Amino acid sequence: MAYVSLKHIDLTYLSKERATTALEGINLSIEKGEFISIIGPSGCGKTTLLSIIGGILTPTAGDVSIEGLSVTDQKTITGYMLQQDYLFPWLTIEENIIIGLKIMGKLTDKTQDYALSLLEQMGLDEKRKEYPSQLSGGMRQRVALVRMLATKPKVMLLDEPFSALDYQTKLRLEDLVFETLKQQGKTAVLVTHDIGEAIAMSDRIVLLSAKPGRIYKIFEVPEELRLLLPFQVRNATQYNELFQCIWKELETIET
Ligand SMILES: Nc1ncnc2c1ncn2[C@@H]1O[C@H](COP(=O)(O)OP(=O)(O)OP(=O)(O)O)[C@@H](O)[C@H]1O
Ligand SMILES: [Mg+2]
Repeated sequence: MAYVSLKHIDLTYLSKERATTALEGINLSIEKGEFISIIGPSGCGKTTLLSIIGGILTPTAGDVSIEGLSVTDQKTITGYMLQQDYLFPWLTIEENIIIGLKIMGKLTDKTQDYALSLLEQMGLDEKRKEYPSQLSGGMRQRVALVRMLATKPKVMLLDEPFSALDYQTKLRLEDLVFETLKQQGKTAVLVTHDIGEAIAMSDRIVLLSAKPGRIYKIFEVPEELRLLLPFQVRNATQYNELFQCIWKELETIET
């Protein structure tokens, strides 16, 4: 049985003026520990799909289940990391990383120690008493990663988490997030505009077409690349081949 299962998902946004079908007929199975990227033209429904997997949006038709249970019945099993870190400016880093645990009623000495150990692992131990405004963008995203991992979600949902960062920081964070998630055997779905990032981090890449968003094609990343760290993937020979292949398909969708 698939770990995450999306069956016949449709989603139509309704407003007074119009109905917009953002997604249609999405079927996808994700294995435990798998890293999936979703790419596609702007507005094709990537964020919508992530919100549905997270149980934040209820599909118009179809169902998403994790370990056989519908996500609408178990809303807190996914963790989010977004383009903006959404750290609370009035809370210290230490307070920010335990806020999720607090809200979920899971804050104990043990869970707090775990969150702090993650912070240490991210090299941010000495920042724990500081406020988000005192940290760089890359550091703040590392804090956001700790906050997400602290609640031990079953599935990690990443919506362009590196796109607001400078290129060097982005490459470093890709490696860090990749290593951390692999180490913990986490299942992850990443939305990105960057084909290279998708190849560097994923096991499979789902290309969506637009209006309405449908699965256009799924690319398997070759095993040789999957074993490498994202930074190394970008320098591997097979990387360019796959990049060109995805680029061509994306062009046929967009034109
Ligand atoms: N709350 C909403 N109400 C109405 N329409 C919406 C709403 N949110 C998104 N849409 C529409 O649904 C479609 C998919 O939007 P979505 O944000 O999921 O796309 P996306 O692929 O994440 O785009 P981007 O790459 O720009 O982030 C778009 O046509 C968008 O205009
Ligand atoms: Mg989006």
